[in-house]
Amino acid sequence: MDFKSIKIFVFVLTVAFVTVLTFPIGYAAGDKAAGKTVYDTNCGACHGVDGNAMIPGVPNFMKGETLDKSDADLTKSLKEGIMKPQNPAAPPMPPVGLSDGDIGNVLAYIRSLNK
Ligand code: HEC
Repeated sequence: MDFKSIKIFVFVLTVAFVTVLTFPIGYAAGDKAAGKTVYDTNCGACHGVDGNAMIPGVPNFMKGETLDKSDADLTKSLKEGIMKPQNPAAPPMPPVGLSDGDIGNVLAYIRSLNK
């Protein structure tokens, strides 16, 4: 391979790498930054700052609680609310009344909190 083809090869590799880093699989599903705004406005009072819930029976997203469920299951819970929490000490979660776009964004955000 001559020097010019090596340069082209490295350039193509770099572009491919940056593209993969910028758009990891699943990224398109929701916008985390927009989701944080939705979360801070609608969810933080129960689920805590950065998902670190302090109320018994409220899932702590920093610890990844309930995040093993599918987006479809979590979306259903958000739309219908959970009026009878498993832990009777927990406040019932009202149906959130968010658009599908906002639900996708807020799910992307809470899935990013599990560290
Ligand atoms: C009034 C308090 C309250 C508010 C506000 C609230 N939640 Fe919840 N949430 C709960 C409780 C309590 C549970 C656990 C219910 C149970 O026992 O399964 C829960 C459960 C969940 C779950 C797990 C659902 C499942 O299927 O297991 C998700 C995800 C969730 N909340 C996200 C949100 C988001 C996103 C918002 C804001 C749009 C929000 N919650 C607002 C109290 C609240």
